[in-house]
Amino acid sequence: MHDQNQNVKDAKIGVVLTDSDDWTANAFLKNIRKRDAKALPINLSTLSASISTSDFSIFNANLKDSKLDAVLVRDVGISFSLETISFKFDLLRQFENSNIPVLNSPTSIQNAANKFFSFYLFKLAHLPIPQTVITSELEVALKTIEKFRIVVVKPIFGSQGKGIIKLESSQPESDLASKLAELLKERGVLYLQEFVLNPGRDIRVFVVDEEALGAIYRVPRSDSFIGNLSQGGTPVKCELTEEMRELAISATTAVGADFAGVDLIEGEGGLFLLEVNATPSGKGIKLACGIDVTERIIDLLFERIADKERKEATE
Ligand SMILES: Nc1ncnc2c1ncn2[C@@H]1O[C@H](COP(=O)(O)OP(=O)(O)O)[C@@H](O)[C@H]1O
Ligand SMILES: [Mg+2]
Repeated sequence: MHDQNQNVKDAKIGVVLTDSDDWTANAFLKNIRKRDAKALPINLSTLSASISTSDFSIFNANLKDSKLDAVLVRDVGISFSLETISFKFDLLRQFENSNIPVLNSPTSIQNAANKFFSFYLFKLAHLPIPQTVITSELEVALKTIEKFRIVVVKPIFGSQGKGIIKLESSQPESDLASKLAELLKERGVLYLQEFVLNPGRDIRVFVVDEEALGAIYRVPRSDSFIGNLSQGGTPVKCELTEEMRELAISATTAVGADFAGVDLIEGEGGLFLLEVNATPSGKGIKLACGIDVTERIIDLLFERIADKERKEATE
């Protein structure tokens, strides 16, 4: 653990963030500094890379003369093009290639952020997921709504409940067709998921290092079915059941993340997995349960640094 390892005192941790007012980003910075290590906020959009046959470096004013010992990712930020998002993930991969711990790993963040590929990983792990159809064909989308009766349409790469709508087969087909055509024009592809009848809440479980630390129910506003706190949902303490623990840990493992906020929903026959968030906010669970997940994440980060140093010392 970190207490037994003096080296963490001098460690320099890069904290990848975009919003300096964000609760989780600040909790990460505070908890790193509390242990006498250095925390360097890094906004990936401010990093430059220089590459030649003989050299490679990542630089900005903040990183000058800093050899990082680890990188902790709070938030990669919204990207306006494929080029900016891939450059950001390539930068994270370069940190990994320089042989320092990067939490969560860029691959696990990408796996989790992709609501199609993550569902494929969940399916391989035999985890319960709502039926989902991904298509660019209007006809297929209309047939799917007829079959599922109520569908939730989401962006494949979405977060914070943004861009999610509910459509029902009872709506006039012409209305459905024009709505779907509009979405197709905007997104090029539709992600249609059966609506899971639920008791008016979803569940966010926090997993760190294969342990479920706690959970909150998120109760949507009365005029919405979307539980995200950023959409006005209210966090309420939730007692973890064994089923919640197992599903949340398996889902986190399936995407390869070290820590995650896992969204579950209570269907009629049991729990369903909605998504794994590999850059989760720790604010809701702190408010509702008094659990500071960022402390446990920082513990894990220091354990990883110590493991690496031990390994190098024996090589
Ligand atoms: N299939 C579904 N059935 C019922 N409610 C859903 C379904 N999918 C999403 N929701 C509601 O919408 C919220 C956001 O969905 P989610 O898949 O977690 O996307 P995001 O990445 O935007 O958080 C969920 O937390 C839940 O409240
Ligand atoms: Mg979610």
